[in-house]
Amino acid sequence: MHSDLDRILLREDEIASRLDTLAAKITADYEGKDLTVLAILNGSLIFMADLLRRIPLPLQIDCLRVRSYYDKMESSGQVDFDRAALPNLRDRHLLLLDDILDSGHTLAAIVEAVRHDVRPLSVKSCVLLRKIKTRARPIEADYVGFDIGDEFVVGYGLDYQERYRNLPVIGVLRQP
Ligand code: IMP
Ligand code: MG
Repeated sequence: MHSDLDRILLREDEIASRLDTLAAKITADYEGKDLTVLAILNGSLIFMADLLRRIPLPLQIDCLRVRSYYDKMESSGQVDFDRAALPNLRDRHLLLLDDILDSGHTLAAIVEAVRHDVRPLSVKSCVLLRKIKTRARPIEADYVGFDIGDEFVVGYGLDYQERYRNLPVIGVLRQP
């Protein structure tokens, strides 16, 4: 799998050290609050596991399976998930976790549904990666691991046609 990469953007030690900082900030911000973390699968699976084990708060974890449709590495704007699967968040604060903020379609659709259907006390979002670009939807993340250029990356949960999620590093695919 490594040999399919053009270059490595983020090594395992760089990711781990950034997660230490991110987790410390989230821990301080949510101290004493009833927090539910909602991880957007599949992409945030590995990020979720590594980040949440660094947060010593009595939080609850839930997952939402979301499909965003990509044509040629660009979002089609279509985002599918089961609204009935959103957790009960009455009197709780919500932190959404996603692997990457790209066009913004995914996060915008989930934030809208959550605010409308389950009305938590607050809604924030945390992404491991944020692409520096003009987004189709004007949405920002509250916690960001790394800003990266506008290129397609894989590894550490991120896939290309369902491959490379189990790469421990994040890299740019070699052009075929
Ligand atoms: P958005 O809806 O365009 O913001 O993208 C969100 C979803 O698209 C992410 O959760 C990823 O699953 C996928 N995605 C966006 N950019 C990339 C990338 O560079 N590599 C792999 N997946 C990506
Ligand atoms: Mg994907």
